[in-house]
Amino acid sequence: MTPDSRIADLRQQIEDANYRYYVLDDPSIPDIEYDRLMRELEALEAAHPEFADADSPTQRVGIRPASKFEEVTHTVPMLSLANAFADEEVQDFVDRIEKETGDGDPVFSVEPKLDGLAISLRYERGAFVRGATRGDGSTGEDVTGNLRTIKAIPLKLRGDTVPEVLDVRGEVFMPKAAFDKYNDWALANGEKTLANPRNGAAGSLRQLDPRVTAKRPLSFYAYALGEAQGMPESIKTHSQMLAWLKTLGLPVCPEARTARGVEGVLAFYRDLGARRNVLPYDIDGSVYKLDRYDQQRAMGFVSRAPRWAIAHKYPAQEEATVVEAIDVQVGRTGALTPVARLKPVQVAGVVVTNATLHNADQVARLDVRVGDHVIVRRAGDVIPEVARVIDERRPRDAQGEPLHPPYALPTTCPVCGSAVEREEGEVVARCTGGLFCPAQRKQALIHFASRRAMDIEGLGERFVDALVEFGYVKTVADLYALKIDDFLEMKRRADERDGTTPETVKAGKVASKWAENLIAAIDASRDTALERVLFALGIRDVGESTAKTLAKYFGALDPLMAADEAALQQVPDIGPVVAARIAHFFAEAHNRDVIAALRAQVRWPESAPQRSTDGPLAGKTVVLTGGLASMSRDEAGDKLEALGAKVSGSVSKKTSIVIAGEAAGSKLAKAQELGVEVWDEARLVAFLAEHAL
Ligand code: IVH
Repeated sequence: MTPDSRIADLRQQIEDANYRYYVLDDPSIPDIEYDRLMRELEALEAAHPEFADADSPTQRVGIRPASKFEEVTHTVPMLSLANAFADEEVQDFVDRIEKETGDGDPVFSVEPKLDGLAISLRYERGAFVRGATRGDGSTGEDVTGNLRTIKAIPLKLRGDTVPEVLDVRGEVFMPKAAFDKYNDWALANGEKTLANPRNGAAGSLRQLDPRVTAKRPLSFYAYALGEAQGMPESIKTHSQMLAWLKTLGLPVCPEARTARGVEGVLAFYRDLGARRNVLPYDIDGSVYKLDRYDQQRAMGFVSRAPRWAIAHKYPAQEEATVVEAIDVQVGRTGALTPVARLKPVQVAGVVVTNATLHNADQVARLDVRVGDHVIVRRAGDVIPEVARVIDERRPRDAQGEPLHPPYALPTTCPVCGSAVEREEGEVVARCTGGLFCPAQRKQALIHFASRRAMDIEGLGERFVDALVEFGYVKTVADLYALKIDDFLEMKRRADERDGTTPETVKAGKVASKWAENLIAAIDASRDTALERVLFALGIRDVGESTAKTLAKYFGALDPLMAADEAALQQVPDIGPVVAARIAHFFAEAHNRDVIAALRAQVRWPESAPQRSTDGPLAGKTVVLTGGLASMSRDEAGDKLEALGAKVSGSVSKKTSIVIAGEAAGSKLAKAQELGVEVWDEARLVAFLAEHAL
């Protein structure tokens, strides 16, 4: 392939991948493959400047920082929407439409009201020429350079109905996951964090330097048109128009659909509202738009809003309240989480009394103090959080000094008194008490019994609390020694302590049924699988998937316990940090004691290791890149692992061999730069044949 045809091919592949991802919501290639295509294209364009193209996917950050934004006049003004808060207002809206159109059962396009920033994108003969903010509706700011960095916005329209001129209106927003990820990165790198996804989107678009915007993970959904010349005549409804936009390569919110009458739109409102917290982006309402264009024309406009559309808002997810105290919770790994105890307040229909403050950095950033008036938010997560402090309402003395000092995390564990430590480069402070700390012991037991670990049904927080408090269990192995009488006695003591009448007295024999059930559930967990035990042990950073990988790789517990850090790093996807955690865990005498005690109670099948720890490639790290003709890369990876290799995704100084297939790109270049041994496919095939695989 000549460089120019390869460049064209790569540009097409990347644009197709964007289209599949953002418009069809059906990703075609993994991120790492996408990055590889991008790097190969960058390298080729750098080597062949004669094939440069401003619309190449590599040129999204091509525009220089501006000193100010130019004004843009919208040829068709950008409208706003009337709001409805109560169902009755929606009923009135639909009644008006039924009366004035004479249609007794009108169809609506129903869509989420996205909580971002409205923008207008101008395409001329299919090319993205200008993008602007809404501004006052008539005039906005030219933010083309920033909008070009958003991969969901196509630089060129696709398909064979590309119109002469098209102003596409829609919302730029920051997906919740991208917002969280960005803030994690910002905290770790001393950059300013974003207050919420909406501010994140708005602030990012107002950056004068597109390179800053490019680092912000923004996305876009189209929902309306401005000026349009050359739109297919066959389009007679809003929903047909949205479907057409998708064929042009413009992303449309996948939740958009049509609904009939007031029942239809309200059903959509309730369904969307129930899923609001799990949607990947923030919304603040549902929007109903009369679907038929002829009916829209009949309804017309009032001032700046159409009479054929309405925004039905959801209750606010933010409310103001007062911090009555700040407490600290100790988790399973000893992590200290500061929690604000709040004056009870309704947020989006739920009474909130506690809100997480996450960690010491977050407390410092917010500067939350006891007595402060704060905004609490129920957002993406179900756990409410403190969004910000209302500075003007901070309680102060006569001299104007704050009544309370800045909050600091305790230096000793509030539960067991052990020292609290914060590792270099970590945001989390931890109690060093380990399983000596009752709080950690309780959490360790709850984790051990949880469904995805040992799955002991019914052993919830309440029982674990009492079991630890009264000293019935110190380690997870002690659970298996419990007898019915222990449970009954424990219950009696708990009732006594709490001043509740013992149920055993009230209900006689029936009261022991729950204890029998618990014993049966504990017994049922005795036959288990190695991966469950490994997960249940609660080794830091060993989640379900790492536990599975370890179980598969070692097949049995003894070889895993015997593995040193270097051997653990040979396991796929286990890096130096996790390898060290695992090795340290099994090196601790008290952990080995617990495991020995557990082995006397719990059984699991063991097998031979499924990955060879010896073999001709033992100790070698191999990277596969480019396409292979005789087998897939996965197959090749399995075969290499069976010969003892560790297969990795990226080339570094530690890489032993890079296997370069057809059209290998940047990884091959990097291997050559680092002087890493490179094999072609023929050499790989010969090697596998020689070792009889
Ligand atoms: S349609 C002709 N659809 O709401 C009406 N707007 O108050 C033009 N918004 O500025 C707007 N999601 O920022 C429309 N699915 C949606 C929307 C939506 C969010 C915002 C948009 C606009 C404001 C109108």
